[in-house]
Amino acid sequence: MNGLQGRKVVLGVTGGVAAYKAAELVRLLGKAGADVHVVLTEGGARFVTAVTFQALSGNTVWSDLWDARMPNNMAHIDLGREADAILVAPATADFIARVVHGLADDLLTTLCLARDVPLILAPAMNRQMWESPPTQRNIAQLRVDGVAVFGPAAGDQACGEVGMGRMLEPEEIVEQLEGFFVPKRLAGRKVVMTAGPTFEPIDPVRGITNISSGKMGYALARACAQAGADVVLVSGPVALPVPVGVKRIAAASALAMRTAVLESVHDADVFIGVAAVADYRPLQTAEHKIKKSGEALTITLTQNPDILAEVAALPAAPFCVGFAAESRDLDAYAESKRQKKRLPLLVGNLVSDGMGGDDNTVILYDDAGRHPLPRASKAAVARGIVDHLAGMLPART
Ligand code: CTP
Repeated sequence: MNGLQGRKVVLGVTGGVAAYKAAELVRLLGKAGADVHVVLTEGGARFVTAVTFQALSGNTVWSDLWDARMPNNMAHIDLGREADAILVAPATADFIARVVHGLADDLLTTLCLARDVPLILAPAMNRQMWESPPTQRNIAQLRVDGVAVFGPAAGDQACGEVGMGRMLEPEEIVEQLEGFFVPKRLAGRKVVMTAGPTFEPIDPVRGITNISSGKMGYALARACAQAGADVVLVSGPVALPVPVGVKRIAAASALAMRTAVLESVHDADVFIGVAAVADYRPLQTAEHKIKKSGEALTITLTQNPDILAEVAALPAAPFCVGFAAESRDLDAYAESKRQKKRLPLLVGNLVSDGMGGDDNTVILYDDAGRHPLPRASKAAVARGIVDHLAGMLPART
């Protein structure tokens, strides 16, 4: 199963001001392919009406334990059946307390008690309510009971305070939910990666760069984190959100990227070079802005170190994965790069198929031959690469 495609999610919405974000959450879950069934509490309905959720989910919204529309009058059992998860977002302090104590005095709490599917809560409340001993005791108990808790985040609150207790943004909840379903095939592994373009300065305002968007690298970092890895992402200059659970180190030039990689890679299990590292940089960077002179300008370039080849040649090298974006003869160039840099795995793609876009078509090359992956979103391609890679890693000792 790919991400949330085809997953049935029961979304509980309780009575906090963050309920307005639940509307966007329903839209994003639907966009990711999930079938969303909203259960709205009485408090939740004071913030957003059932009509909104019904329109966005395309499904009946349930609120009442005694709703006669359910043929057997067992909404609390039927809704949870066949669901892949119950997600409650926002989950108020009061709702959390009631779930912890096994209360079943409305449809949503009854559904939580009668379930045999995972329960995930995204808390949302004022800072003092979150920090209060009862809430902290309740959260600790939830974890003991096997309930997953997404967030909360720190930041500005509707009450005017600043602190911990804000519900995660809908995009982050969707990302964490996707990760929740991913088998943890990289659990306990450390992955160091590079992604994005590099920027090689000519003077304080100019430089040489390339058209890499960083999307494939960021998708792969996210897929590795969702598979349970500790991920360090050494990133060139891109404006993409940092995937949940990923440690990002900004490094603009090839030399900065090399330093950051060598500092992080000594205890890594896997190194993945996705960055489009410039092969050359200006030999000298002018201290001040270069002015027009009316003459031709010559910039002498010098070759950059090859980060991937250097890591692959370390005495205790991690499992190294390379990327090759070619404009022609993909098989021949990809395989020769793999051999030259002594890589167990290389991901090849045609520039015309992937660079800059949201989809990609890649072929994996290893000692067993070539393995084409179907054309798909970069997120799905990344999951395919992680699956292949996880199967090649030596068993942990
Ligand atoms: N790479 C690297 N450091 C460099 C150059 C490339 O780590 N200085 C990594 C890239 O992240 C990618 C792979 O090496 O994983 C690409 O291999 P390479 O042969 O360097 O590709 P190109 O730069 O495209 O090579 P060429 O110009 O010869 O086609």
